[in-house]
Amino acid sequence: MSDARPRTICVVGLGYIGLPTAVVLASRGVSVVGVDISEDVVAKINRGQVHIVEPDLDAVTARAVQTGKLRAATRPAPADAFVIAVPTPFHEGRADLRYVEAAAASIAPVLKRGDLVVLESTSPPGTTERMAAQLAALRPDLRMPTPQDEDCDVHVAYCPERVLPGRVLVELVENDRVIGGITARCSARAEELYRIFCTGSLLRTGVRTAEMCKLTENSFRDVGIAFANELSIICDRLGINVWELIRLANHHPRVKILQPGPGVGGHCIAVDPWFIVQAAPQESRLIRTAREVNDGKPSYVLDKIKVAIDAARAVGGHPKALVLGLAFKPDVDDFRESPALRIAEQVAGWDVELLVSEPFAERLPGDLSRHENVRIVTDVHEAIREAHIVVMLVNHRAYSDIARADLDGKVVIDTRGVWS
Ligand SMILES: NC(=O)c1ccc[n+]([C@@H]2O[C@H](COP(=O)([O-])OP(=O)(O)OC[C@H]3O[C@@H](n4cnc5c(N)ncnc54)[C@H](O)[C@@H]3O)[C@@H](O)[C@H]2O)c1
Repeated sequence: MSDARPRTICVVGLGYIGLPTAVVLASRGVSVVGVDISEDVVAKINRGQVHIVEPDLDAVTARAVQTGKLRAATRPAPADAFVIAVPTPFHEGRADLRYVEAAAASIAPVLKRGDLVVLESTSPPGTTERMAAQLAALRPDLRMPTPQDEDCDVHVAYCPERVLPGRVLVELVENDRVIGGITARCSARAEELYRIFCTGSLLRTGVRTAEMCKLTENSFRDVGIAFANELSIICDRLGINVWELIRLANHHPRVKILQPGPGVGGHCIAVDPWFIVQAAPQESRLIRTAREVNDGKPSYVLDKIKVAIDAARAVGGHPKALVLGLAFKPDVDDFRESPALRIAEQVAGWDVELLVSEPFAERLPGDLSRHENVRIVTDVHEAIREAHIVVMLVNHRAYSDIARADLDGKVVIDTRGVWS
């Protein structure tokens, strides 16, 4: 390890991003203090356990704690570098930066000359410079960087995270990373930190470009999915199978249409484009429209379910509907901003018996547990036999053994094109 590399690192926020980052750093021999405001999270990690589902994370965390390289705490400790990975949700048309502000306030008392602070939370352009200004106000004895002033006591940078849940420990190491220091020297310091565990290219740029880069990546995906979702609605109207259409169109050497679905969820693709809209509302018409198209898709799916339920009731039955999957995408245990969960919660409020299958939930998540007509099922094949209407919302791998023939006689609403 070169002398310039941080030997002690404090990672603030031990969620889906912060915890894997902390354990990977610890596994490279760095002394890491992981900080979280949740006492439960801290206690669990100090027992060598994890609170999120991510392949291999439990074993790597247990080892990092056992070797003494990782310890968790509710308050930051002095370190050579600080990595902030706290939530940045979207509330009432604006990015909610209160977690970032609280995290910055919590590290301010322990900062010292020569330290590095890296913000990883997805943030609107300008957030990192505002965080540096906040630190400057809290610690007038330390000189913070500005784009105009290379001379500083503490270096500050923005480095977005682009890992895929389910592959976090691999992608954290292998992905290329964008590194945006407030000054060129800040970028160089941040690069030294990521060199500890990254084998991908480390791409230096300015701080605002780095902030915008993360938002751009997710907006690009959102616009692509909106195109596919809009096509799916057009194809329904025209009596065309959208899955076949997309498969055929994608044989064009320069066409790569994404797949439609029940909407866009998670706390990244469904949120980040709004940060761009917030920053430049007049100029981001396409990005805003894509968000609206994707946000409208759950209502479209709900209309279809309603028609199926009404039709079943019209022939005298008390309909049973089965929804397959609630997570925001396949093979994760994450229900945040999930369109599938939103759809199931709406259906639960109707006069229907609702069977819910979700391999990643032991109990009904969200509002579903409040409804007496809703039941979680573990044997999906048994549930299919019982149901009149089957709604595929999330194509978890666990459903790959459901054959089209198993659904004979059922009304099937397949939002993922699994059996289409
Ligand atoms: N999860 C992803 O796949 C992903 C990918 C790229 C970027 N991001 C971004 O990374 C950031 C973190 O996301 P996440 O998914 O890890 O969130 P998360 O909700 O899983 O974890 C955040 C953690 O921060 C803790 N926390 C909140 N305020 C704190 C504070 N002041 N001090 C210490 N801890 C605090 C919370 O208790 C929680 O454990 C967000 O900005 C997100 O948009 C996430």
